[in-house]
Amino acid sequence: MPSSALKGLILAGGKGTRLRPLTFTTAKQLVPVANQPILYYALDSLVQAGIHDIGIIISPETGEAVKAAVKRWCPSQIKITFILQDEPLGLAHAVKIAHPYLKETPFVMYLGDNLIQSEILPLVKGFQKEKAAAHILLKAVENPSSFGVAELDKQNRVVNLEEKPKHPKSNLALVGIYLFTAEIFKAIDAIKPSKRGELEITDAIQQLIRSGKDVQSMIVKGWWLDTGKKDDLLEANRIVLDTYCETQIQGTVDENSQIRGRVEIGKGTKIMNSVIQGPVKIGNNCLIESSYIGPYTSIGDNTQIQQSEVENSVFLEHCKLANIPGRIEQSLIGQECTIIRAQNRPAAYRLNLGDQSTLELL
Ligand code: G1P
Repeated sequence: MPSSALKGLILAGGKGTRLRPLTFTTAKQLVPVANQPILYYALDSLVQAGIHDIGIIISPETGEAVKAAVKRWCPSQIKITFILQDEPLGLAHAVKIAHPYLKETPFVMYLGDNLIQSEILPLVKGFQKEKAAAHILLKAVENPSSFGVAELDKQNRVVNLEEKPKHPKSNLALVGIYLFTAEIFKAIDAIKPSKRGELEITDAIQQLIRSGKDVQSMIVKGWWLDTGKKDDLLEANRIVLDTYCETQIQGTVDENSQIRGRVEIGKGTKIMNSVIQGPVKIGNNCLIESSYIGPYTSIGDNTQIQQSEVENSVFLEHCKLANIPGRIEQSLIGQECTIIRAQNRPAAYRLNLGDQSTLELL
């Protein structure tokens, strides 16, 4: 097992404020992309790289939900240790409290809301061979001010890192996947909380550079997605469906329906008098009747869609949608939502929306 000497550390705490209202009731890392919690992609990525001993940072608010989801995922050979972070005091703070679990073992730190297309095994191998203190991943982005930003010299060495700078010195964002040796703990002890009151991992890596340690970097190939906000999540859903969705029909499709392109339909799901234009994923025990489901849509288990049109959207489980005129698009709908228009009556709207909900009638 090439990477058995490394541990994994997934950060699945935080409050997920940018994904409200969904994150009032669930962890941001459990929101599904292509019908699978984002967290599972991080777990699968570590396991694929041969890492079988994984620590997961959880918060008091969503820790139990994360534990239950990990239990549903967990293959028997994987050892999981949950580490409670009482308050969201920063990514470097999370690493600090994980020290008793990590001990002096090198580790891959993975932010539980990040997704990348490429495998991390080559990276892990390179890290083990070259013995740098840290290895970071970078990606050119259009909005570097929203991320940690790296400045490289002419030899492509990292010379400076800044967290969410107003005036970024490059367009290279820090991807939320990092490889560290135990040197990082000393660096974390030497830094102070940032203006937002958090111990920043970006500052800790900058501290490694300042103290003369070797920090290597690599530009990631393929896509990288940070699913922090609604539109990022829909973009992640679009790209993941585009990359991985394969035709697999386990439910039933009547003769009045058409399935076009790559469509996955779960067990017990009935498609009646409808058009499904892939890439689309529909979970188990759903009913789609007299409707159009357009590209880049994921529909969770036990959801019913009748006499409606949907495209480019994510529906969680147990939703009901019926008789909606116009198309629902670019929408993120939480669990157990009901969106119904009574037929043959003048249109009126009866709403029961939680805090920070958005209803756009375009
Ligand atoms: C965090 C890091 C940032 C990094 C980003 C990647 O930001 O602080 O350096 O670029 O993750 O997703 P956050 O999402 O906590 O604002």
